[in-house]
Amino acid sequence: MKTAGWILAIITIAVVIFFFVLPDSVSIDEAAIERLQRQADQQAGRVDSPRGASDDRTPLPPNDMVVALVDDGDYWFIGKYEDGGGVEIPFPPGRRPEPPADEPPQHANPGYVGPQSCQECHPQYYQSFQSTAHYRTTRPCSPETIDGSFVEGQNVLRTKEPNLAFEMLRRDDQFFQRVRFFDWHFEVPMQIITGSSKMAQTYLYWHGDGLYQHNVTHLTEGDKWINSPGYIDGDAAYARPVPARCLDCHMTYFDYRAPPNHYTPNSIIFGVTCERCHGPGEAHVQFHQQHPEQKDAHEIVLPSELSRQRQLDICGQCHAGSTRLRGEPFQFRPGDELTQYYTPPPEGSDAANSVHTSNQADRMAESECFRQSEMTCTDCHNPHENERGNMRLFSDKCLQCHQTESCHFTPPGGIDLADNCIDCHMPTRPTEDLRLRSIAGDVFPSLRDHFVRVDQQATDEFLQRHQSEATSSQ
Ligand code: HEC
Ligand code: HEC
Ligand code: HEC
Ligand code: HEC
Ligand code: HEC
Ligand code: HEC
Ligand code: HEC
Repeated sequence: MKTAGWILAIITIAVVIFFFVLPDSVSIDEAAIERLQRQADQQAGRVDSPRGASDDRTPLPPNDMVVALVDDGDYWFIGKYEDGGGVEIPFPPGRRPEPPADEPPQHANPGYVGPQSCQECHPQYYQSFQSTAHYRTTRPCSPETIDGSFVEGQNVLRTKEPNLAFEMLRRDDQFFQRVRFFDWHFEVPMQIITGSSKMAQTYLYWHGDGLYQHNVTHLTEGDKWINSPGYIDGDAAYARPVPARCLDCHMTYFDYRAPPNHYTPNSIIFGVTCERCHGPGEAHVQFHQQHPEQKDAHEIVLPSELSRQRQLDICGQCHAGSTRLRGEPFQFRPGDELTQYYTPPPEGSDAANSVHTSNQADRMAESECFRQSEMTCTDCHNPHENERGNMRLFSDKCLQCHQTESCHFTPPGGIDLADNCIDCHMPTRPTEDLRLRSIAGDVFPSLRDHFVRVDQQATDEFLQRHQSEATSSQ
């Protein structure tokens, strides 16, 4: 949430506490919460649904806490009169989030079949693709996929509020975040992972057909638990909806039931997979299953046959900064013009460089390499393989157009330019958009800047690193 949003939220909460809660909040019992919940249901036009009773894992808050329904019943606020910190949850206190019902999708699937359907005829692509960040960027939580320690002693995130802490728990093959707020506690299941773990994993959970984000993220660097990006330290925020645009960048397909965060769980195709770059594959699969003798491809898009701009537009769905959906998700098809489906951020605005992506498309377009050639993203990236961290391989891509000699820089002895053109000409820079707050200090993960240029500062840093590595290995 932007600062203005937070201020508004805090004012709303303060107003609600003042005018509505004070008289009511002296005794927080099941009946009072039932009453508030009914009021919320009526406001939202929902029918009464039976709710499970509270138990020892989700007790009711003690009587000295303030309980309020905020924003027309969108979420619950639980706090104390004089102490800082507070809890926001979309389900009633003393209850668990409701598991989603098994509802049929509301929209016809336009032909997305998922990467498994490609395996039979493209086994190598399917195999190598599974190690990519795109494939791994969203997955169900499981012992195999989840990072971070659930072992006692290493499973706690403390905050600047001494009375608010988070514990990460594992029971059999299920995972939970338990919030301890003074002498009250409750648990929220961790169900979906966002993030390939390159930088981090952020967790989502269902309440009905609504998807919400967890307060605690796992940071890969240093293997630690930390507040999710944009979250305030000292608050337990479990009512942040996961909007369609977020999943449009991190998933292949889902049935979108209603804004901002309502989805049909069994419609989801996890990961950013084949069909986001090649188009829905159903017709292609059917055709080739029925015509095994046919060796020419039908009903599928090969990006390299499109114009340069249309190729860039495919990646631009997710790598062109903070673009917004103009209408429903999944209307864009490879070959389409990006700006018909996504609104670009206003020129010169911060959003051009935000959504924690550093906007590779626009930064690359600043480069002389891009201006004076037909360069596209796939000149350097093979989307079907995990090439991360392989500086020699990326430098070979530079050398498809350049010669080592065209680098006018003469390095000190012991440095082979061809090992790593990248760190001097495309340095990484920490990004404010990815600020993660913690009592141990804020963290800003670094992203690779795609403006290829001569950068004296990056060169100095590179030489310094090289110097200290050489000294320490002596
Ligand atoms: C029943 C077999 C079959 C299945 C299943 C299949 N394909 Fe293909 N595909 C082919 C054949 C045959 C070709 C043409 C020969 C080639 O390029 O390998 C092809 C070619 C392609 C091409 C290159 C297109 C071109 O113009 O050269 C792409 C991209 C592609 N397939 C993507 C997919 C995706 C994505 C899936 C899964 C959704 C998939 N295929 C599933 C048989 C299949
Ligand atoms: C405009 C597209 C876009 C939107 C919207 C978006 N993301 Fe991302 N996200 C990305 C891209 C691209 C990266 C990778 C950044 C990189 O590697 O340069 C990323 C990275 C991440 C990571 C770190 C992954 C890693 O590398 O370990 C997490 C976690 C994440 N996003 C979660 C979210 C969540 C949660 C939302 C919605 C609340 C969201 N993102 C919205 C595009 C997007
Ligand atoms: C991030 C985008 C992206 C994803 C995801 C992706 N591809 Fe591709 N694919 C491309 C691009 C771009 C090309 C064109 C290659 C080039 O320009 O060098 C391509 C080419 C291909 C080709 C044709 C190769 C050739 O040289 O004729 C096949 C087949 C293919 N992809 C299959 C798949 C399958 C199967 C998956 C999923 C397992 C997949 N792709 C995932 C972007 C993608
Ligand atoms: C539907 C959204 C989407 C599309 C389309 C897309 N990407 Fe991505 N891409 C992402 C997200 C999200 C991540 C971050 C994954 C993560 O780390 O969790 C990512 C990560 C990457 C990475 C970093 C991989 C790594 O291991 O560090 C590269 C490189 C990349 N994308 C290139 C491309 C290229 C090239 C295209 C077009 C051919 C493309 N992407 C199309 C969403 C997308
Ligand atoms: C598709 C071809 C192509 C690729 C790939 C490519 N470049 Fe370039 N690059 C060019 C062209 C063309 C120019 C402009 C003419 C010149 O200076 O040689 C250029 C210019 C440059 C410049 C001078 C920039 C300036 O502002 O004057 C640098 C530095 C550079 N490239 C480095 C790299 C590095 C490092 C890589 C790999 C990460 C790379 N290039 C990949 C084509 C390419
Ligand atoms: C240690 C840092 C470093 C490495 C590694 C490095 N460069 Fe450079 N490069 C520089 C600096 C600094 C300059 C500017 C030199 C000058 O103008 O005196 C430069 C200049 C260039 C230029 C010419 C820019 C112009 O103004 O015309 C190109 C092209 C280039 N480098 C490409 C490469 C390629 C390709 C590689 C990898 C094979 C590479 N560089 C590796 C630091 C580096
Ligand atoms: C001139 C070569 C080149 C081109 C062209 C290029 N990239 Fe990259 N890209 C790189 C290099 C090098 C890295 C760093 C890879 C690594 O650290 O493993 C990178 C990293 C990335 C990452 C991960 C970011 C991070 O900070 O870890 C994403 C996402 C990405 N590229 C997307 C794109 C997209 C989208 C395009 C097209 C608009 C593109 N790239 C064009 C060279 C290129």
